[in-house]
Amino acid sequence: MRVPTTRRYLMCAPRFFAVEYVINPWMDPSQPVSAERAVAQWTELRDTYRRLGHTVEEIDPQPGLPDMVFAANSGTVIDGRVLGSRFRAPQRTAEAEHFRRWFTEHGYRDITMPEKINEAEGDFAWTGKLLLAGTGFRTDPAAHAEAQETLGVPVVSLNLVDPRYYHLDTALFVLAEATDTTSAQIAYYPAAFSAGSQRVLARLFPDAVLATAADAECFGLNGVSDGRNVVLPLEATALAERLVARGYAPVMVDISELRKAGGGPKCCTLEIRK
Ligand code: ARG
Repeated sequence: MRVPTTRRYLMCAPRFFAVEYVINPWMDPSQPVSAERAVAQWTELRDTYRRLGHTVEEIDPQPGLPDMVFAANSGTVIDGRVLGSRFRAPQRTAEAEHFRRWFTEHGYRDITMPEKINEAEGDFAWTGKLLLAGTGFRTDPAAHAEAQETLGVPVVSLNLVDPRYYHLDTALFVLAEATDTTSAQIAYYPAAFSAGSQRVLARLFPDAVLATAADAECFGLNGVSDGRNVVLPLEATALAERLVARGYAPVMVDISELRKAGGGPKCCTLEIRK
């Protein structure tokens, strides 16, 4: 029986959600999107976390920042230390400052804004001991060294090679954290990574749950786990079955509207670790 731990999340309602520009292959401005439907799906996600016993904080969305709902891109917080973000796309640049202000106003004293392009938890995944760090499309590899120095945690760099899986959190997530490397458990889609990075992952996580192309295509790797309950897009049924076999409890949510911008449950969720 897996044991959940209570989490604290920061989320941003998609009140100004839209697909007005193209910065990843999922975005198509000619397709209709509904901010209303996005808000409904997001509200269900937030309430799911609360039902699971987690704390959800909210930051006010801003007009003109349609991607601000993807809070994961705006901060990496470990042991109360906050490493902010620096976006690659000019359309998202202003989001970083809103989140920096939120952390300042909520009593965080140890806040660093990165010098290098750094899309935060979009490209960083904490295993409890290691910070897995993606690069290839968004976060600058030099931001990995900056994160290691600022947060004081060992960073493992991983190369992403498929433009559909442009952020690490679209290809990998942590199922159960652990303070020793070997017992943390992750799920990932191997083909999203370079050959060398696949070997690194196989070496560090021999018991990982390996996802299929179909799991990845519905954003199944954009899951959020509390160590037992795993929030997944409702299409990720095959992955869900494999997680049940490993003792996890999948909780399925509809994120179809948010996926039109290239996001899923994890993208909407910045974890505040103390
Ligand atoms: N449209 C957004 C972008 O391309 C989606 C971000 C999704 N966030 C994530 N953590 N993967 O930047």
